[in-house]
Amino acid sequence: VKVKQLHRTGYHFQPPRNWINDPNGPMYYKGIYHLFYQYNPKGAVWGNIVWAHSVSKDLINWEALEPAIYPSKPFDIKGCWSGSATVLPGNKPVIFYTGIDPQGKQIQNYAIPSNSSDPYLRQWTKPTDNPIAVAGFKMNKTAFRDPTTAWKIDEHWRMLVGGRRNQRGIAHLYRSRDFKKWTKAQHPLHSVPNTGMWECPDFYPVALFGEAGQNTSAFGPNVKHVLKVSLDATRFEYYTLGEYFPSRDKYVVDMDSIDGRDGLRYDYGNFYASKSFFDPVKDRRILWGWANESDTPQDDVSKGWAGIQTIPRKVWLDPNRKQLLQWPVEEIETLRSQNVRLSEKKLKLGDRIEVEEITAAQADVDVTFSIPNLDKAEPFDPSWTNAQELCSLKGSSVQGGVGPFGLLTLASQKLEEYTPVFFRVFKAQYKHVVLLCSDARSSSLRNIGLYKPSFAGFVDVDLSEKKQLSLRSLIDHSVVESFGAGGKTCITSRVYPTLAVFGDAHLFAFNNGTETIIVDLNAWSMRKPNKMNN
Ligand code: FRU
Repeated sequence: VKVKQLHRTGYHFQPPRNWINDPNGPMYYKGIYHLFYQYNPKGAVWGNIVWAHSVSKDLINWEALEPAIYPSKPFDIKGCWSGSATVLPGNKPVIFYTGIDPQGKQIQNYAIPSNSSDPYLRQWTKPTDNPIAVAGFKMNKTAFRDPTTAWKIDEHWRMLVGGRRNQRGIAHLYRSRDFKKWTKAQHPLHSVPNTGMWECPDFYPVALFGEAGQNTSAFGPNVKHVLKVSLDATRFEYYTLGEYFPSRDKYVVDMDSIDGRDGLRYDYGNFYASKSFFDPVKDRRILWGWANESDTPQDDVSKGWAGIQTIPRKVWLDPNRKQLLQWPVEEIETLRSQNVRLSEKKLKLGDRIEVEEITAAQADVDVTFSIPNLDKAEPFDPSWTNAQELCSLKGSSVQGGVGPFGLLTLASQKLEEYTPVFFRVFKAQYKHVVLLCSDARSSSLRNIGLYKPSFAGFVDVDLSEKKQLSLRSLIDHSVVESFGAGGKTCITSRVYPTLAVFGDAHLFAFNNGTETIIVDLNAWSMRKPNKMNN
């Protein structure tokens, strides 16, 4: 199959062809960042899954190596599914992954580097004492997968495996003293009814103060914990913040952290099966996530490829301790080239200014909207609890009071197509409610087969402190990754314009609210990395 270039990304992680899904086992080892990912070497739809392997020194340029883990043993002959890496004391990496056995059962395996003096970790050995965990008598053998990075406190290692009992989602807990023999704890670390299968759990500490990342085994009075799960039922990810008590291996979700389908999300758009790791070089925790296509499998076959990894994000605790913050890793800024700036531009009702002279199809935009007056904010109806529905009700062209204002990304010159990313401010009884929307409905003239949702999330900001809202959008041909209010609310959309492609894509700032907004904008053309798995 000849790979179609239209809609391929310029600076997002992609292999040259074929299907990809979950990021697996990200880690840093001897000067090199490793990213493994679920990959079909034979086609652009899911199947024949192996762990493809890429390495980088800067998280920007990537070199593809041979697949690291592929079906070869009875304990993984029908598939090598998602998992994680743990770097043991003494700098010894170990991979946990889910193998599919000849009966189709999901079992947990481990692999170790065949040659630890190779910083590229090209070859992996699967010791003969695999598997390390199988579903017990009463457990669901086809809902038992995606082992986490392990953590060690008080001489005991722990790790989680995602699962489900009927409709209850479960994070099964395993313990080990020697990292070889793993025993299931009597109680799971956590479980929630009516959430279905928990895929790709992730459990890690975040510092109470500052942005520094924590080693997965860090523990003490200065951290709290994050538990993230990917819900197969909704295809969204949810996380809670909580208190972890290692002595009893209890995880207690914070009072004001909502568990389940109404909970916090890393991303309110197309972002799934994410995984974080601790980067000791820059003392930060980095999050990788998969953005699936929003077209059809037939489209993917004819494109010859499907799936991208989002730009790695630094993740840390919001000083309000109620949520996480995320921001694209700083390395991405090295790809910035041609720059344009708008400063203190007034945007009145109906105004639209084009951001010219950059490659609008492959750009990084950082903008701050100042709101002189909040009085005209529309009243907020408390029944509006679903952000995505509210965004579809009040799209970018529906006039408001304070907003909608924001960016029109991947826009055709005459606006036959555009993906608006915008804020809208409402007035509730005691505070303002801010909505961030990334609305794919107008993204493409193509109507058949495309999924064009009005993704949205609320933004927990206090506008009485500072009447400003910031927005960063990473635009890359078929993806728009947006970070609202310094990373409080993030939304990734996949879109397939027919006119707004390559040099015919445009970028605008707009306001459709009665209140004038002041815009300070910085935008850059983005270069392609020198090397992207080629
Ligand atoms: C999540 C997932 C995992 C599984 C893998 C298979 O997208 O379904 O639960 O391990 O993908 O490719």
